[in-house]
Amino acid sequence: MKTKNKKAAEGLVMAFDVDPRRKVMKKKMSRRSFLKRSAVAAAAATLPLGLVEISWGQSDKRNFTFAYISDSHLTHIKGANFVRNFDKGLKKAVTECNFMSPKPDFVVYGGDLAQLGKREELDHGLEIMSRLRHPVKWVIGEHDYYLDLGQYWQEKIGRLYYSFDHKGVHFVVLNSILTYDSWINKWKSPQERMSNMARLDNPHGSPFMVGDKQIQWMKQDLSKVSRQTPVVVMSHSPLYKIFKPWNFWTDDAEKVQAVLKKFDKVTVLHGHVHQILYNQIGNISFEAMMSTSWPWPYPVSYIKKANQVPRLTVMMNRADPFHERDATGWSILNLDDGRVTNHYKLWENKDRILKYDKKLGYPIDMEYQAPATRIPPQMHY
Ligand SMILES: [Fe+2]
Ligand SMILES: [Fe+2]
Repeated sequence: MKTKNKKAAEGLVMAFDVDPRRKVMKKKMSRRSFLKRSAVAAAAATLPLGLVEISWGQSDKRNFTFAYISDSHLTHIKGANFVRNFDKGLKKAVTECNFMSPKPDFVVYGGDLAQLGKREELDHGLEIMSRLRHPVKWVIGEHDYYLDLGQYWQEKIGRLYYSFDHKGVHFVVLNSILTYDSWINKWKSPQERMSNMARLDNPHGSPFMVGDKQIQWMKQDLSKVSRQTPVVVMSHSPLYKIFKPWNFWTDDAEKVQAVLKKFDKVTVLHGHVHQILYNQIGNISFEAMMSTSWPWPYPVSYIKKANQVPRLTVMMNRADPFHERDATGWSILNLDDGRVTNHYKLWENKDRILKYDKKLGYPIDMEYQAPATRIPPQMHY
């Protein structure tokens, strides 16, 4: 029995371990170098905020910080009962945001507040979010949308797409989880439509899109913005194509990218993928936000296809199923010279910092980008 269990555990490791180089790293690392690296990591996790303050100087009005919480998937069971684990994730992020120093100028909620778009779930999420001491900017996710096509969200929260300016940066919020009318209208009930969009690997799902109406609005909105103004776009799905079978995909992403092409500094921040993921396409840096509920594995670990994770990504270690907050978290973001510096706050893993490298022309993980410095895989048995 013992041997059988050990084999099963080994199988689990193999299934999720996507980078064999980490195994080599683990063997080579002594206790001393591990401690040294831990200390460096701890320092790195706290230093850059301060460094950004100094490099921007007192007078630079663009120096600001905001927080990003996403993908809480609050799940209604019955009556006043909700899945406790997911509640705990969102509550933890809200509490930590309230303790942030310096205070964030605002907090972004990145979508998938609810699991099945129910009013109970959205109300419950709003109640937890109301404990935040900061203004909130909202982005809608497909789990919030496909029961009533965003009706309750608009009643309780507001518009599905909009823009705003903050300290010299132009922000655009998109509703990127729209899809084809033929798919929307083919279901017997709203519940059936919602549950078919809610699954990760559903062959009956439909790819996301922003849609021509919204792209037209975006063109108009950006026509008033100068080329030199930093632009930050926030959407729920990634505005590029990663992996269609899981709907890590926005069908008309290229059209959105074309509208953003004229700007010198563009960052797209998105949720939906529940993992660390970043990429550079042309002039646009893309960065994924963490989920507070659960992590998704990287596509290659599930379907035996070529790895479709973007090249710049340093994968997270697989999640430890015995730690309910593992591979989940939230982000603190600075605008560093008009580019986003992203501090991933990872609850059960070491924090990670992504920063745009001016020489290279894309964002890099400040500590782990080079294969030699990657964190070895976790062992769970
Ligand atoms: Fe999600
Ligand atoms: Fe989503």
